[in-house]
Amino acid sequence: MLALALVGAPRATRSADGPTFAEYAVASDNIDASEAGASILAAGGNAADAAAATMLALGVASPSSSGLGGGGFALYYRASDRSLSFLDFRERAPQGATPDMFARKPGETQESADARARVGGLAVAVPGEPLGIAELVSRFGKLPLKASVEPARKLAHDGFTFTAHTQRILGFVGQEFLRDPLAAQLYGNAPTAGAKLTNAALDKTLQVLATQGPQPFYRGPIAQQIVAAVRRHGGLITAQDMRDYQVIARKPLLGTRLGYDFATAPLPSAGGYTMLTSMDLLERWLPTKAHWQGPERYHALIESWKGGYLDRQNYLGDPDVVNVPLEALSAPDRAAERASHYHPLLAAPVDAYIQPLPNTPEPAAQPDNKGTSHICVVDAEGNVAAVTTTVNLPFGARISVAGMWLNDEMDDFASEVGEQNAFGLRGGAPNLPGPGKRPVSSMTPTIVFKDGAPVLCVGGSGGSRIVTAVEQVALGVLVDGLHPARAVVAPRLHHQAVPAHVDARDLPQATYDELAKRGHPMRPMGFAAQVQAIAIGAPGPERLKAASDPQKGGEPRGK
Ligand code: DON
Repeated sequence: MLALALVGAPRATRSADGPTFAEYAVASDNIDASEAGASILAAGGNAADAAAATMLALGVASPSSSGLGGGGFALYYRASDRSLSFLDFRERAPQGATPDMFARKPGETQESADARARVGGLAVAVPGEPLGIAELVSRFGKLPLKASVEPARKLAHDGFTFTAHTQRILGFVGQEFLRDPLAAQLYGNAPTAGAKLTNAALDKTLQVLATQGPQPFYRGPIAQQIVAAVRRHGGLITAQDMRDYQVIARKPLLGTRLGYDFATAPLPSAGGYTMLTSMDLLERWLPTKAHWQGPERYHALIESWKGGYLDRQNYLGDPDVVNVPLEALSAPDRAAERASHYHPLLAAPVDAYIQPLPNTPEPAAQPDNKGTSHICVVDAEGNVAAVTTTVNLPFGARISVAGMWLNDEMDDFASEVGEQNAFGLRGGAPNLPGPGKRPVSSMTPTIVFKDGAPVLCVGGSGGSRIVTAVEQVALGVLVDGLHPARAVVAPRLHHQAVPAHVDARDLPQATYDELAKRGHPMRPMGFAAQVQAIAIGAPGPERLKAASDPQKGGEPRGK
């Protein structure tokens, strides 16, 4: 299998708008990782093998965002039988988790309560990535798992590129991060962007994955190391929590909007629901192409997000633990009612879009017992993988084990009803922590179909901003006919109901001012979500139009 890593990944041809490929493409937010995925396709692997290789390489080359200590979601389209599958390998709370574990204690500052969910042992949920990758390959791949591991192992052993993105993130996490031995070894001598780094511990861990599969991560020596590290830092994960972890195959969330069939992330992601809710309203409010221009489009987008994010806060939680009234939430008359609150020229107060469900008991809070990265891969057979993977905040809980970083996905739970998490999302009772629970996510891996054929793979990173960013890039490609490389840099807006601001990037000043006049509290966007996408067209040299968001310095690779 060593030979696989030696097969070079050919580069794109470049149209005036962005990279294009005739046969296959991988779009990730890191060049080493896109090359790892493309090398597997060049060696005869399919989209599942390549997505696994790309994820593993991301964990080596861009470890602040994702890796074996994290988890994610994979949406997979298999061309041979036109089947769609969704693998939930999201991290899961330990059995010891309680609804009040992150609530502010008497005398404690909110900052210190928040920190418990973000840095240290309590922040860590049971990682899903090792098993998720293994299942993606065993269910859909053509090659043995070790083939997908090899490019990542080689990067860890021979060297990967220290990127300007990781350098920026290190500025954000601060000097105390370097007290971690792996952080000190990798970043202690302040490498410059472009330097080659190695990670011997991760090389060894990847060899275990290649030769023994995912089991040692859940019931063997690596599991023991994870449990020991988490408990040393005050966390709750036990050996039993590790053994109990399972990947869940779920039905993707489906919806027809704007003449396209969308397949996207179901619960425990709120992303798919929020995006489809928004598009349902857009269809009603922007009935003709002429409506999709200028302030009218942006005004409608902002209004369309308020209700979906409120629903998330009030009703969404892990569907295996709390009762989520999804059917009632998605009922056509409820959407029609919501649509009726739209004023085409004036911003409505957020609460106008609440639409409380009649006669619905408060969702049960708990039963008694119990950094992110997006990849798109399209292969020559027409299979499509849309995978979003994360350790949550940069370098997760900032605890390294066996060359990898443990996630801090527990911050995606509500710390208390009404409190905001790191992404400003207001917590609701259905998303309080609980034993074995998966926190609600914003990750939105999506594949869009036209007349039964896939036309777009899209997804992104950036916390609560993922949903609105993925939606706007999809609209840029599908409605405006843009190459994805143009769509990812087009003007961007975000509104998540709470806080009641509109964040805007690169809007023409006149449009910005016009939206402010309509009553939208506008402010410049501090940071934008990063989106990867591949548009799939008719056979030919421009069949695949791929884009990696320039913010993280990634580039697509393929042939
Ligand atoms: O699942 C979620 O919604 C978050 N853990 C995603 C975090 C994220 O995108 C961080 N990125 N910048």
